[in-house]
Amino acid sequence: MKFNEPATTNPIDQLKVVGQPVDRVDGPLKTTGTAPYAMDRHDVVPNQAHGYIIGSAIPKGRIVSMDLSAARAAPGVIAIVNAENAGKLAKGNFNTAKLLAGPRVEHYHQAVAVVVAETFEQARDAAHLVRIKYDRDQGVFDLHAVKNKATAPKGEAAETKIGNFTGAFASSAMRHDGEYTTAHESHSMMEPHASLASWDGDRLTLWTSNQMIAWSKGDVAKTLGIPKDKVHVMSPYIGGGFGSKLFVRADAILAALGARAAKRPVKVSLPRALIPNNTTHRSATIQRVRIGATREGKITAIGHESWSGNLPEGSPENGATQTRALYAGEHRMTSNRVAVMDLPEANAMRAPGEAPGMAVLEIAMDEMAEKLGIDPVQFRILNDTQVVPDNPEKPAGADPQSKDKEKAPHVPHPPFSKRQFVQCLQTGAQRFGWDKRSAQPGKLRDGRWLVGMGVAAAFRDNLLMKSAARVRLDRRGILTVETDMTDIGTGSYTILAQTASEMMGIPIERVRVRLGDSSFPVSCGSGGQWGGNNSAAGVYAACMKLRAAIAQQAGLDPERAIFADGLVRVGERSIPLAQAAGERELVAEDTIEYGDLDKRFHQSTFGAHFVEVGVDAATCEVRVRRMLAVCAAGRIINPKTARSQVIGAMTMGVGAALMEELAVDTRLGYFVNHDLAGYEVPVHADIPHQEVIFLDETDPMSSPMKAKGIAELGICGVAAAIANAVYNATGVRVRDYPITLDKLI
Ligand code: MOS
Repeated sequence: MKFNEPATTNPIDQLKVVGQPVDRVDGPLKTTGTAPYAMDRHDVVPNQAHGYIIGSAIPKGRIVSMDLSAARAAPGVIAIVNAENAGKLAKGNFNTAKLLAGPRVEHYHQAVAVVVAETFEQARDAAHLVRIKYDRDQGVFDLHAVKNKATAPKGEAAETKIGNFTGAFASSAMRHDGEYTTAHESHSMMEPHASLASWDGDRLTLWTSNQMIAWSKGDVAKTLGIPKDKVHVMSPYIGGGFGSKLFVRADAILAALGARAAKRPVKVSLPRALIPNNTTHRSATIQRVRIGATREGKITAIGHESWSGNLPEGSPENGATQTRALYAGEHRMTSNRVAVMDLPEANAMRAPGEAPGMAVLEIAMDEMAEKLGIDPVQFRILNDTQVVPDNPEKPAGADPQSKDKEKAPHVPHPPFSKRQFVQCLQTGAQRFGWDKRSAQPGKLRDGRWLVGMGVAAAFRDNLLMKSAARVRLDRRGILTVETDMTDIGTGSYTILAQTASEMMGIPIERVRVRLGDSSFPVSCGSGGQWGGNNSAAGVYAACMKLRAAIAQQAGLDPERAIFADGLVRVGERSIPLAQAAGERELVAEDTIEYGDLDKRFHQSTFGAHFVEVGVDAATCEVRVRRMLAVCAAGRIINPKTARSQVIGAMTMGVGAALMEELAVDTRLGYFVNHDLAGYEVPVHADIPHQEVIFLDETDPMSSPMKAKGIAELGICGVAAAIANAVYNATGVRVRDYPITLDKLI
């Protein structure tokens, strides 16, 4: 189904099930521990052995020798695979560094071998007996030291310029120019990367934990040099991803190689302490924001530059990108630069680009508002825009993650599909009690706590992605949905069941949803907050086809057929769906496609974050006291699961603001705090009262669901709202995340 024109009335608007706070349909499986995660697959194949990965002890250089003799002789050892004996391996499309190093080492803890043994403990013991000699090269580990060597990444719209930024900024009546830094961050999802691999001749079956089934199937095949149709990937339950599982990682490839060598199924999970350096992280950034405005608070010039680091060929953390679209202003410039470094691979983490970009831009907006003597909510409202002020033309095929798009003329200032940013700010200010904030910092006190309030915009793009699904109606009237879409804890099972239930007019209990299997139609997968809207639209498209097939089978006019209460009806005639299916099950499959829709209408989600903090007057300990997010993100398919997504994202924003930082050892070239004892994330006791308001919105330009993404909008801006609240409480402006108490004393 091609969706390229505004949605009019459609079956989804019946709103019996879509839009309801339906409990997770997979909830009982989760709470009873019976949802099988990759490491729980004890029964799917017999005779499973265990692999233990050895990570490189140097960040850059060469493996000189690897002595396997002691390890091979250790109890229970079946096979040891390294680059010397693995056979030819390629690099996956989505990997910057190789998943099995040798002889060259590209980063610390890059896998150099996997030891396969009868038990996990035997594999781990033997791994410690492998003797490796390295030849270490010098490396670059400090972003500040190489910032000036950063370059524009290839194949991306790295820089934009509109008007004459430099001149306009210099002649602005009021100016702000600030430099800010954000930290290296680790996804720290609950379930580690894990895979079970099993070969049947030349066919590989992989039970794994991965957000993007089709990408991972392709990359497993490419890495191992086998045809794609010989790879079967299953990932029906995933214990969190946040972008860490968008791509195939060493667990999957080394489980497959281990299984081939051992001639048995092999299970590999990455130990927690291996994850931050072996897998991907969000790069630290240095950012400079310049804002020029009239005395009345109209932005005349806005410039945002972002520098981050990555391995050679790696992509930047695009901190400046949202500044092209968020606020008005005649003269503008943005640039995203990346410096070559030798830290582990940097890649997407929840709201890549916008999360650190908004964390910085929205402090700068607060600083500018203060200089102007304008309330920060008002300053943002003053600079709203209903068209994109700066829309670069992207080079074709620039982004390996982007979908295939038809060539369409470039629109320099497209309208937003829907933008209710001002309404978010106004609703939030009113509901939060913003009028009680003191414009002057350090004025409010509650016992030993200095109290402050902060606001920030939330903004994150809403990506349109092709997505397919298959639906089957059987003789019992049970509808089964099949798509390779994943549920990373987000609620995909539930919203897809709701969508199918609404479309076919049957109770949700009669819908079965099967996900995360590469034998199902290729969906959009889970990433970039595109999963919910697009996968539901794919199910919508398949159901539209099934409706037509059912009507035809029943001899009813498909145009006039109404699907409700388990019946298909035209006028007086109605037939139970189960009966309509006839003797055989009815099957329909379709793909939602958007053509050039997102070229003509910029697709974004909007919101506002309000935060109240307390700062201990003596110790400078920061406690978040209250948080409110107001979101305008199209139709909310399920307010319960959507709220959970936003609450989770807000919590992650608290981490980014106050705690999270991968500490770099710039001599040895690795992240030191590579476990959950040293890398701090917020826990329940850190999280106070959180509230989420969804504006009543439908977006007819976003998809037939009229919905958008929500899961990453919730983090964008949170850190700045906290930073601004800390400033309001104390009068101390911290421009360097995380805001730990040493920076306030
Ligand atoms: Mo998200 S960082 O694309 O999983």
